[in-house]
Amino acid sequence: MNGLIIYLKKVLKVEIRNAFEVGKYFTYELTREKPIYNWFYYKEGFAPEIVDFMIEKTVSKLGILDPFCGSGTTLLRAKELGISSTGIDSSPLSVFVSKVKTQNYEENDLVEVEEFLNTVQKLKEGKFNWKFELFNPKNAFPFSNFNNILSLRTAIEGVENEKARDLLLLALVSIIPQASLVIKDGGVLKIDKRKRAIPTKEAFKRKIKRMVRNLNGKSNGFVPNLYLGDARRMEIENESVDLIVTSPPYLNNIDYSKIYGLELSLLEMNEGATKQTRNRSLRSFITNQSIEFEIPESVREFADKIPIVGSYFADINQVVKEMHRVLAHGGKVGFVVGNSVIHETHVLVDEIIGELAEEVGFKVEILVGLERIADVMPAKVKTRESIIIMTK
Ligand SMILES: C[S@@+](CC[C@H](N)C(=O)[O-])C[C@H]1O[C@@H](n2cnc3c(N)ncnc32)[C@H](O)[C@@H]1O
Repeated sequence: MNGLIIYLKKVLKVEIRNAFEVGKYFTYELTREKPIYNWFYYKEGFAPEIVDFMIEKTVSKLGILDPFCGSGTTLLRAKELGISSTGIDSSPLSVFVSKVKTQNYEENDLVEVEEFLNTVQKLKEGKFNWKFELFNPKNAFPFSNFNNILSLRTAIEGVENEKARDLLLLALVSIIPQASLVIKDGGVLKIDKRKRAIPTKEAFKRKIKRMVRNLNGKSNGFVPNLYLGDARRMEIENESVDLIVTSPPYLNNIDYSKIYGLELSLLEMNEGATKQTRNRSLRSFITNQSIEFEIPESVREFADKIPIVGSYFADINQVVKEMHRVLAHGGKVGFVVGNSVIHETHVLVDEIIGELAEEVGFKVEILVGLERIADVMPAKVKTRESIIIMTK
């Protein structure tokens, strides 16, 4: 390709216009300040205002679906608005985070959490062998932080009240970035021995106190249906929802089962959890998953050169078909995606998905919310993130 950026591919049929006012809701930035939404730092998350933006376009009577629910932003916003919702995710970590953020809590659940805090100073030694496929977790923490995490994890397992246990466990899992020596650098985890890690117990106590404060008087409403699953094969009835607000993994070759693998293996206490999650994940990264959905005609030529382009759009096409199936007539989808530069090829993800959506019968409009300059040798390329509005 010698110094050229190839554009894959301009589809001129679909309507595209700028809507930069909505772009600020595509990133996690605004969510960082929002109570409950920010209980788990999830860089890939969007802001709840995306749900409001979609609700202005259509009133939801049947309920909202997020088939890639991530940290539960759509579901929590639906709960706040008094709308029933369903969330699916391939990662047990996402399903857990979403559940803890959206379930209803009683006063006694919070009292039990506080009672647990009184025991934190005199915890016993932890009793499980924490394993993670990329490295030994022991090397990723200062010595005392590691031991305290094991002790807390073991003690939390013994808490009988399920909701109190969930809150405590989320607090523990969510402090891993602060308590560890790990740096999440794009698509890789690095251990940096010079990083300042916050003592586990201090970070844990601070976190759980904040969570309890956030819940004050706020915990009642429609609890979402949540399940561990695969957006390519949704276990959802035909025409049973009328709004889908979601964002799939981007075509960036990042395997999130690895990036969040420490959190996931601590939550599940099972080394195999990362592999199982990977096998359910959309193929937005190089993986040897054996699923074979057909590669859409429009990207076939490029798929020969860049296989990940073929598998990504084969999977996305399947998701688009599933969304069309579960959506009632007149229902809408808000699908937040980002374009990618991969092997000197600028992949216009929004236009390709827009075209696939038209092929299954959606009416499509693409709103460009963010533009970025990607400095990819040999040139700088203007890429963008968009929300694809699909109407059935
Ligand atoms: C971009 S994130 C969604 C973020 C979400 N909008 C939020 O605000 O937190 C994409 C999510 O899709 C999930 N995922 C990947 N493959 C999946 C699949 N086949 N089915 C369901 N979820 C999947 C990932 O685990 C990840 O949580």
